[in-house]
Amino acid sequence: MDLNERDLKGLREIADKHGIDPHESFGYETFVDAGGTGILLKPGTRRIKVYETGTQSVGATRYDWKGAEVTEFEPPRDQTVPEGKWAFDQGVTDVFDDMLARSIPAYDTMRDACNRLAIPVLKQEPCRVLDLGCSRGGAIADLLPHAGEDALFLGLEVSEPMLGAATARFGHDKRVSIQKYDMVRDPRGLDFNPSLILCVLSVMFTPIEHRLRLLSRLHDLMQPGGMLIFVEKLIGGSARLDQTMTDAYLQLKRDQGYTEEEIQRKKCSLEGVLVPMTATWNEELLRLVGFRDVDCFWRYLQFGGWVAVKDGNPVDHQLGPRRADVPSMSFGSEYDG
Ligand SMILES: C[S@@+](CC[C@H](N)C(=O)[O-])C[C@H]1O[C@@H](n2cnc3c(N)ncnc32)[C@H](O)[C@@H]1O
Repeated sequence: MDLNERDLKGLREIADKHGIDPHESFGYETFVDAGGTGILLKPGTRRIKVYETGTQSVGATRYDWKGAEVTEFEPPRDQTVPEGKWAFDQGVTDVFDDMLARSIPAYDTMRDACNRLAIPVLKQEPCRVLDLGCSRGGAIADLLPHAGEDALFLGLEVSEPMLGAATARFGHDKRVSIQKYDMVRDPRGLDFNPSLILCVLSVMFTPIEHRLRLLSRLHDLMQPGGMLIFVEKLIGGSARLDQTMTDAYLQLKRDQGYTEEEIQRKKCSLEGVLVPMTATWNEELLRLVGFRDVDCFWRYLQFGGWVAVKDGNPVDHQLGPRRADVPSMSFGSEYDG
């Protein structure tokens, strides 16, 4: 659902009146419920509910503000019990923020680390951010307040409900474009030259045989000195440790309030759709496609995050020039790009 300029102006005035930080209101999401139309702010912050006089008419010409109330917004709770193969459908999209927060261990720490690594890269000119499998746009929403007016963010997604949610969220910000793109099958080349690429929990949904080609394409697209942030679910380094960590992870999900049925049905549903690899394989993949500067920045049970920087010197890059004199330590020439 789109908000027109006039609607947004009205909502911003209400935000001002209630002393809501404009940054907090990045991530507008519209909702319509009995008696009102309004915007949801980021989960955990506040929501503004606006009452209108006409029928539900967001985007229509007649839109009269009657009043507004500001309340705490709790994101809808994930109680998904999937039937059949996993899909990022409307039901999953609606509860996605809660699903991530309760299913990814140490989720806030992971997000915080991604943001801390990414924010300095936003100073690189031109600032071009590619978010592959952007879902509802949570990662983009975190970075937008730190980016300049000339920055461009491209969020790519294959799921229609996710595309709808992300498009509605950033409709007000000209720096963001959300496009349908299947990172496995889409034959189009990407006409974008990113300084920062985010692959946060998305590549694991592609068949393994496509990953080398996909990551290689991403590496080629990047600006010199550009950064890739790569977060994946993992399997353990041995069958025994994989079982140990799986047990610990399942207990963590119980502790997060998921029922046994929710846990088991989700696990079965994701089999063959979410295909994790070991930490070592993922790191090798990054080196194989040409990244020489690769490091793990986060690890918790069966989840891990890597940062990789492409060779070359970016302009005005906060990280400084690459130290070309430092040899790659752990891989032989077959892995050197
Ligand atoms: C776990 S979510 C990613 C979370 C998101 N990156 C974030 O930072 O919040 C995985 C996303 O990848 C998307 N996805 C899966 N396969 C895809 C494909 N072949 N092409 C594009 N997106 C895909 C899904 O629709 C889903 O939204």
